[in-house]
Amino acid sequence: MNTPNNVSRQAPVSPPAPARRLEGERFVLPARILHWLMAILILAMLYVGAGMVSTVSARYPELLAWHRPLGIAVLILALIRLGVRVTHRPPPLPSDLHPVQAAGAKASHYLLYALMIAMPLIGWAMQSAGGYPVIMWKGFELPPILPHDIVVYGQLRRAHGLLGYAFFLLILGHMAAGLMHAWVRRDGVFESMAGGGDS
Ligand code: HEM
Ligand code: HEM
Repeated sequence: MNTPNNVSRQAPVSPPAPARRLEGERFVLPARILHWLMAILILAMLYVGAGMVSTVSARYPELLAWHRPLGIAVLILALIRLGVRVTHRPPPLPSDLHPVQAAGAKASHYLLYALMIAMPLIGWAMQSAGGYPVIMWKGFELPPILPHDIVVYGQLRRAHGLLGYAFFLLILGHMAAGLMHAWVRRDGVFESMAGGGDS
């Protein structure tokens, strides 16, 4: 009988493992600390913001009193982070990542940076145009950055709300991509942002 011996002895063919980001190629420690600290802060800001506008109770001013200074903290941290980013080259993406995926990652990171800076600035400008003080803590408030104008206030309020939800969607997509790298591709991209150590 003619048995296909040569076929049965062959090792099973598995697809090539994805290329890994090189061992030790990571974002610098300040970039990693800022990334996770800001992730917590921004998610908290989105939830506080959404909770705030959906209540008519006395919790509105209480939540707003947290929302304003935390939002300004995000602005300051985002500017520091941008400084770290332009002075420290990020690790290159794995060489086998599809060009469309690589371009998507780059574009979404630009957008995340833009929103981290635009959201607090729009919040501050909206409060200024509405004639409301931006109280950081008792006895200290920021100066207005726009003159009082109720029409502009309305437009900025709408923009702050719409961009807030666009920000949330973008973060969800970004988290999904991060987890895809960690659990599906296992290509070292997640570790480059998550790993400890001082390199
Ligand atoms: C509010 C939430 C978040 C924001 C605003 C954010 C923002 C960013 C930005 C702007 C970058 C690009 C870093 C740079 O090039 O300087 C980045 C990278 C990264 N983030 Fe996030 N992130 C958030 C949450 C998360 C979460 C929850 C995860 C985990 C799944 C995650 C995983 C990653 C990974 C793995 C990278 C490296 C990607 C690469 O090297 O291309 N991020 N993040
Ligand atoms: C990262 C920064 C920020 C994020 C992610 C954020 C997010 C949000 C979100 C999601 C809402 C709910 C919008 C809606 O459903 O209409 C909101 C409302 C609001 N935010 Fe922010 N915000 C930020 C910074 C700021 C800052 C710095 C200020 C002021 C200095 C501010 C002032 C307000 C005010 C007054 C509202 C309530 C508007 C209303 O009553 O319709 N936000 N924010």
